[in-house]
Amino acid sequence: MKLLVTGGAGYIGSVCAARLLEAGNEVAVLDDLSTGHRDAVPDEAEFIEGDVAEQADAVLSRGFDGVLHFAAKSLVGESMQDPGKYWHGNVLTSVRLLDAMRTHGTPRLVFSSTAATYGEPEQVPITEDAPTRPTNTYGATKLAIDHAITSYAKAHGLAATSLRYFNVAGAFDRFGERHVTETHLIPLVLQVALGQREHVQIFGDDYPTSDGTCVRDYIHVTDLAEAHLLAVAAAKPGTHGIFNLGNGTGFSVRQVIDACREITGHDIPAKLAERRGGDPAVLVASSAAAQRELGWQPKHPDLATMVGDAWTFVAGRAGN
Ligand code: UFG
Repeated sequence: MKLLVTGGAGYIGSVCAARLLEAGNEVAVLDDLSTGHRDAVPDEAEFIEGDVAEQADAVLSRGFDGVLHFAAKSLVGESMQDPGKYWHGNVLTSVRLLDAMRTHGTPRLVFSSTAATYGEPEQVPITEDAPTRPTNTYGATKLAIDHAITSYAKAHGLAATSLRYFNVAGAFDRFGERHVTETHLIPLVLQVALGQREHVQIFGDDYPTSDGTCVRDYIHVTDLAEAHLLAVAAAKPGTHGIFNLGNGTGFSVRQVIDACREITGHDIPAKLAERRGGDPAVLVASSAAAQRELGWQPKHPDLATMVGDAWTFVAGRAGN
């Protein structure tokens, strides 16, 4: 298939672009490089530098079989301080993309949605029919886009899938996580092991969990990429499928730090800090629907593999 990957210079977009190419697809990447890196775009992909809202119409006029839409603003804290950046950058941009797809008859869409659409869960593991009450603007904008996609699919016959990612980790080949502004736990912990940071902060240890720290469901980025390949193939015209992607197992912040200590052999000092606003205590996915309907089966559910692959990636880049 001929596929457009928006945000293909970012962490998850670049891994998915690489896997789509390996699977024999033709890939064009559209990315404004506001947070992505030019050298993260796979060599075999065509690269178009530009803003999705501005370029989608011209690019899609060339005829594509589908779009995988990763390009987004994705910092939870920033979304609370500068909501306009998220409503414009995420929602308005995505609606412009949907309009361009409609104009040019692009039949398939896979969208990067998020566990943040659910907010504080009433029950874990979280299923797709759980209430969607996002606790931050980032999650609210992704939920708004999900609603827009549902209506475009129904009205205009789009074959759409939203994949709601839980906590993505690991790396694939030369593609991995390297945000200029890093807020995520595993890369921050590994920066301590690399000597780039003195200690890691633990944001609260008084949550109702086994060791008091927040519990998250980590998913290997290659397992996530596999779900995208399956979703592109399985999408049905006029329907919008929504699937959670995680492993169904939670790890606490302390367990993640311990796994990083084991993999890196570094003692990784950790200091207790205040809770971070808006953090739910436990986020664990039920991915039963993705397994049943997409035939998705995670191959790297163990935390050690995710941390190990992330470590190989960052240590390699740091020249260790
Ligand atoms: N944490 C720390 N110290 C740090 C960084 C994080 O203790 O220095 C904690 C957080 O408080 C949280 C856990 O580690 O409890 C994981 O935090 P991340 O920032 O790595 O990930 P989040 O769970 O906050 O967010 C991730 C994605 C979001 C997405 C969300 C949905 O990064 O984009 O999952 O659950 F919205």
